[in-house]
Amino acid sequence: MRVRRYDPESDEASHFQEYQIEVPGHSTVLDALIQVREEDDPSLALRCSCRASICGSCAMTVNDTPRLVCKTKLTDVSPDGETVVVEPMNNQRVVKDLVVDLQFFWSKIRAVEPYLQPKGEEPEIEYIASNDSMLNLLTPMGCIMCGACVSACTVLEVDKTFLGPAALAKAYRFVADPRDGQVNQRLSTLNESSGAWDCTRCYFCVDVCPKGVDPMD
Ligand code: FES
Repeated sequence: MRVRRYDPESDEASHFQEYQIEVPGHSTVLDALIQVREEDDPSLALRCSCRASICGSCAMTVNDTPRLVCKTKLTDVSPDGETVVVEPMNNQRVVKDLVVDLQFFWSKIRAVEPYLQPKGEEPEIEYIASNDSMLNLLTPMGCIMCGACVSACTVLEVDKTFLGPAALAKAYRFVADPRDGQVNQRLSTLNESSGAWDCTRCYFCVDVCPKGVDPMD
């Protein structure tokens, strides 16, 4: 493996470090990184938790593509034992090695006010939305906030003011919710500069989303 290393306390710039490892055929890229950390180099920084594509904490760049490393089998990216290149996600500040600062990601999500804002007074009884009216929300609700789409976004690469794919998918989740009372206000905000129309339709966010959320759609 070639792993991009960076320690802000000692490095002026990032550099690659190579590790030669043997792992069982069913291993994921995350398994391999953990093995490196446990057996070769305890200083390697990486973030993971569930190891089951649920928590969204292990997104990294593998062979130039943002992926959940717990979901990426080594045999898929290195069928004949080729070198696998692992780097931190793009478009986000690197804290150390493969760990990025998620402040940027969360600031975009917060900007779209990701919570229901009911119409008028709070209802006295539960507001039950019909199943049919919620069906089109299932796709954006599958987002696990891993940041892979933000890493792949070609607009964020050049314009950090853009809301970005994860926040736009989250915005749709509330715009399309029949219980929300701020649809017009939300749409006006998304209509502004740095909003929905700044997307260039490159489709990379759709390609890399590990949950099929299709943020661009
Ligand atoms: Fe939780 Fe990969 S470790 S999604």
